[in-house]
Amino acid sequence: MKNILKGVNVYLIGMMGSGKTTIGKLLAKELQYRFLDTDFLIEQISKKTINQIFDEEGEPYFRNLESQILGEVSTYIKTVIATGGGIILKQENWSYLRHGMIIWLDTPVDILVERLEKDQTRPLLKEQDLSQKLTNLMEQRKSLYQLADLTINIEKDDTPNLIVEKIITKIPSKIKQEINPQLN
Ligand code: S3P
Repeated sequence: MKNILKGVNVYLIGMMGSGKTTIGKLLAKELQYRFLDTDFLIEQISKKTINQIFDEEGEPYFRNLESQILGEVSTYIKTVIATGGGIILKQENWSYLRHGMIIWLDTPVDILVERLEKDQTRPLLKEQDLSQKLTNLMEQRKSLYQLADLTINIEKDDTPNLIVEKIITKIPSKIKQEINPQLN
């Protein structure tokens, strides 16, 4: 399994709370890839939390930083990258994401609500009704997430290991179809 992607990066996309970081770490282990997380890199480089960046510099500043980081990591190989939930919003980010295999962790809003109820780290979820806010964001973003190469449907009792298994099972079909069309 570990060679099947031939070093091509994997980008995990999806809503906040969809499990990109947890799944990304496990998947990287399975593929014998390095793991990176764009939010974590942004915090390291700016020496601020995501909350502080949004508060002090504003969202557009954060989005630019996010694109820069994505541009950097897209030059790597053999890397699983957990992205921030809003990475799909900018057109230019897609040119970076398309260097690799893009996998959408499609997690229903009710599961997201459960996971994010006590979260204090996401600036976009602060003031309003959590369920409504996540429903609105999902509505705005769904058509963009759907542009992923692979969609993984996450269900309530799925363990991280099961989700990684679902991904690993689905990857080969996609490689044959798109990354190496000559294999067909
Ligand atoms: C955001 C998602 C967050 C983080 C920022 C904005 C979004 O990342 O990048 O708070 O717009 O959905 P996670 O998806 O890792 O929570």
